[in-house]
Amino acid sequence: MSRNSIGRMLGAVALAVIPITCAPLHAQTIEEKTQVCAGCHGADGKPIDNTIPTIWGQQAGYLYIELRDFKRGDRKSDIMQPIASPLERQDMLDIAQYFSGKPWPDLGQPRAPKDVSARAVTASGSIGCTGCHLDHFQGDGTVPRLAGMDRDYLLKQMTDFRTRARGNNPGMSDLMLATSPDDIAALAAYLAGL
Ligand code: HEC
Ligand code: HEC
Repeated sequence: MSRNSIGRMLGAVALAVIPITCAPLHAQTIEEKTQVCAGCHGADGKPIDNTIPTIWGQQAGYLYIELRDFKRGDRKSDIMQPIASPLERQDMLDIAQYFSGKPWPDLGQPRAPKDVSARAVTASGSIGCTGCHLDHFQGDGTVPRLAGMDRDYLLKQMTDFRTRARGNNPGMSDLMLATSPDDIAALAAYLAGL
């Protein structure tokens, strides 16, 4: 073997070793992996604006499914897609577990007025929202908690399901298509104030 080819071989070995010595995501602690999230979802669990959902205290199964769907492109978001795409399955499971273990923050939103609540409760009853989102809209497993989520965020997501701009759960889209825009607005105000 010539000196040159040994040199090339060692070069190749060195290159092959780099990913192991740097071991990007796996060597990071969960705090390091989730540091970037705080910039938008809030260092104290309160999102920095009302286009961003609360992820502290959210159901772990749901958080995992959303990260997976952003990565796959099944749920479209120019912001979340590039953040989720480098994550491995185990990272997403760990991150989901980490955030679901945090306390749900109080965003201090007002209770909906009586007439708005009454309209929301009727709409919810006729669709059967709590059959999946459970009593007091606390969610479970892959079904999200809705109680105390930001009102504008809720309104946007329900509207996006309705137009299928959010297409990752056709079942939710069908339910929102069976709900009038006025009922959806009432539901957003009601759920935010729970
Ligand atoms: C630059 C701002 C930004 C950063 C950084 C960010 N997010 Fe998001 N995230 C958003 C926005 C905006 C949405 C809502 C997307 C939409 O409208 O569908 C979102 C949605 C989500 C959702 C869906 C929650 C739900 O209720 O549907 C999850 C889960 C999530 N982000 C997790 C994370 C995690 C984990 C990180 C860090 C690894 C992170 N995000 C970093 C802005 C951000
Ligand atoms: C058959 C079960 C089922 C019923 C009934 C149901 N949902 Fe859902 N809902 C889900 C699931 C599952 C998801 C998560 C979809 C996904 O993976 O993105 C969801 C997601 C949502 C979201 C998005 C939350 C977020 O953080 O982005 C909202 C808002 C919502 N539902 C509101 C409602 C309302 C209001 C009703 C009643 C009018 C209702 N749902 C009825 C199962 C259901």
